[in-house]
Amino acid sequence: MAPETLPVPDSPLPLAGRHLVLGLSGGIACYKSAELLRLLVKAGATVQVVMTEAAERFIGPVTMQALSNRPVFTSQWDARQPNNMAHIDLTREADAIVVAPASADFIAQIAQGRAGDLLSLMCLARPAQRCPLLLAPAMNREMWAHPATRRNAAQAVADGAVLLGPGVGDQACGETGDGRMLEAEDLCNRIVAHFQPQVLAGRSVLITAGPTFEAIDPVRGITNHSSGKMGFALARAAAEAGARVTLVAGPVSLATPDGVTRIDVQSAEQMLAAVLPLAPGHQVFVATAAVADWRPATSAGQKIKKDGSGNAPSIAMVENPDILATVARLPAAQRPYCIGFAAESHELERHAREKRERKGVPMIVGNLGPATFGRDDNALLVIDEHGTREMPPHGGRADKLTLARALVAEIARRLPTLRGQA
Ligand code: CTP
Repeated sequence: MAPETLPVPDSPLPLAGRHLVLGLSGGIACYKSAELLRLLVKAGATVQVVMTEAAERFIGPVTMQALSNRPVFTSQWDARQPNNMAHIDLTREADAIVVAPASADFIAQIAQGRAGDLLSLMCLARPAQRCPLLLAPAMNREMWAHPATRRNAAQAVADGAVLLGPGVGDQACGETGDGRMLEAEDLCNRIVAHFQPQVLAGRSVLITAGPTFEAIDPVRGITNHSSGKMGFALARAAAEAGARVTLVAGPVSLATPDGVTRIDVQSAEQMLAAVLPLAPGHQVFVATAAVADWRPATSAGQKIKKDGSGNAPSIAMVENPDILATVARLPAAQRPYCIGFAAESHELERHAREKRERKGVPMIVGNLGPATFGRDDNALLVIDEHGTREMPPHGGRADKLTLARALVAEIARRLPTLRGQA
């Protein structure tokens, strides 16, 4: 009998169906706004660009029109709207107004509720309950550090605006510090995150990811092909859903998802040592790491040299601790809800079911190792006490972030039965 199925979103585009107003106030970071617009459109959003007069000094509306495929609005006196009320019409359909860059002067206008040009007018006139205002500050570090700016930014936040950044680093003026606008990709990720349902708000999730590396000597070791992508996608999805996330990562070259606390380890023993004290402080534990099953019994202090005999050295191996099974055996009061991943090369469902029993965990997610390691997409079997379900349905595949978001929704559905819950 074919397994039941679990839904994943129809569209892999995370902003499909969303309409955004992208506002540009004056600042050199306007050059990044063109890239941000491109990414938002690529993520499925429709975008109406609105620019202040100062922004037009930094980038041409024609560029933004071409990228958004819509005429850009720059003035509250624009006669194109039949009722001449661009400030009302343009916000009524919007799911959010994103102002990037938001200059010090623009943030001051927002803080004071001023409405001297179309963009600030729109921010004031938007239906605030259903159209959030996201501000991406961009300015010189002294301007950002000035008490007046801090006061204005705090007031804007108190009035409901959300700050995206600013970032730290080199500034166009040649100085270095806080105040630069976040990079377009980072901003786009944060805008996507803003729209995710907060199904894990107030929850805590501990995740292991990547391979482990078991040293033979200072230059060699045993590892595997795990890229860590699924675990990192889960960390991102859990953080987007409002959870406090701790990610214990083996050696991978992946960026830490926004808002996630990361602990880097090498070996299985180090991973266990990092996980065990943290586990009781988290409500969910997801073990996605491809932990090496064995390690060399001893790791040589110096590089092992060929001895000229033509014989390879024999390396005695010992079994590594099972991190997931160890956490699953913690006393009930300290034990998070445990989810394992089973990487198999064949007979996925049978092996994954057996693994669930053997490790004593309520939920196992099965995937075929060779068809997932290093790839951006995957196909999963979700196995729990109710049976086996395919994700996505009908033998399909989906990108790992889409799957991770669907898995987070599955985990959240189980929360009422979690420790500490009724
Ligand atoms: N796991 C773990 N510690 C280990 C081995 C595995 O925490 N020493 C976890 C993995 O993170 C995963 C699950 O156990 O969530 C299953 O891992 P997998 O490698 O598929 O299974 P193994 O337990 O290693 O069993 P086998 O090698 O026999 O397939």
